[in-house]
Amino acid sequence: MARIVITGASGQYGRMATDKLIAKGFADDLILITRTPAKLEDREAQGCDVRYGDFDKPETLADAVRGAEKMLLISGTRVGARVPQHKAAIDAAAANGVKHIFYTSFVNVEENNPAIVTIDHRETENLVKKSGCAWTFLRDAHYADAMILNAGPGFIASGTWFTSTDGGREAMVWREDCVDCAVAALTQDGHENKAYPITGPNSENFEEVAAMLSKVSGKEVKLVETNDEGMYAHFDALGIPREPIDDQTVAGIPWNSDDMVSFERSIREGYLDICTDDVEKLTGRKARSVRELIDANAEFLKQAARDTGA
Ligand SMILES: NC(=O)c1ccc[n+]([C@@H]2O[C@H](COP(=O)([O-])OP(=O)(O)OC[C@H]3O[C@@H](n4cnc5c(N)ncnc54)[C@H](OP(=O)(O)O)[C@@H]3O)[C@@H](O)[C@H]2O)c1
Repeated sequence: MARIVITGASGQYGRMATDKLIAKGFADDLILITRTPAKLEDREAQGCDVRYGDFDKPETLADAVRGAEKMLLISGTRVGARVPQHKAAIDAAAANGVKHIFYTSFVNVEENNPAIVTIDHRETENLVKKSGCAWTFLRDAHYADAMILNAGPGFIASGTWFTSTDGGREAMVWREDCVDCAVAALTQDGHENKAYPITGPNSENFEEVAAMLSKVSGKEVKLVETNDEGMYAHFDALGIPREPIDDQTVAGIPWNSDDMVSFERSIREGYLDICTDDVEKLTGRKARSVRELIDANAEFLKQAARDTGA
């Protein structure tokens, strides 16, 4: 198997992808990039090649990618300001023997989409296409995990879910399904120069998801409709920064409100109402639903309700 270099290998997505590739017997083929190699000592012990690399120090990336033929470029976390970081990784890959770049993009990168995440993803896709490498775009929908497991306990604790989506729909997807698609694409032939919108199986609005959360947690989560200004005020009150700040989290989540308010608008305007069967096409099994994620984490969500005295 061609060697695969993975950026963001110490993150949630990267760890899951690495686990799955190792389970398939590819440990010796993996080169894992991190700014802190000590974080990946366990991977070294599993047979992976752990290397130092920093998107913000392009000069570190040539040595980091050398020897790989495929790159899994997991998008960085600095939403709205990732293009120079991604460019550094793409340039290093193209100049040092990588033949095929797999990039974790976003479900709809069309120019009119107001979600600011699309700017980075659209520009990065263009850079990858221009690099001379073959490309595969894994265009992930909104992770259900982020909404249900990260934000969900806050909705349950307060009993309210503020939104400006106005009934708009999206087909949230399990992060693990996205990772399974990446692993399939990386280890099968025939995915050159293809883009896959990777979504969950159902397009749902937040009213429907709030009802599922209420039912399973045992605590009513009421959807409260507001507008963009109301959303900013809500996020400001929670202490969430407007712009991304590296390695800063609020309630354990690395979020910023410019990203989230524009995301809600994108749902409201219908840009994320996209539902495909690409998980099944890539992995041979159906995508799992939001309801299945809620059911699989029912105890955790019930505990969030109990913690509030419900
Ligand atoms: N579709 C969605 O709903 C959704 C939701 C959440 C995230 N995402 C996407 O998934 C991506 C990965 O998320 P995650 O949860 O795995 O992130 P995470 O757990 O926060 O991990 C971030 C990773 O980025 C790496 N990194 C950060 N700054 C870097 C730099 N300057 N140079 C090199 N590496 C750097 C870190 O590596 P080291 O610290 O080891 O250097 C770490 O491995 C996100 O960035 C985002 O694009 C999508």
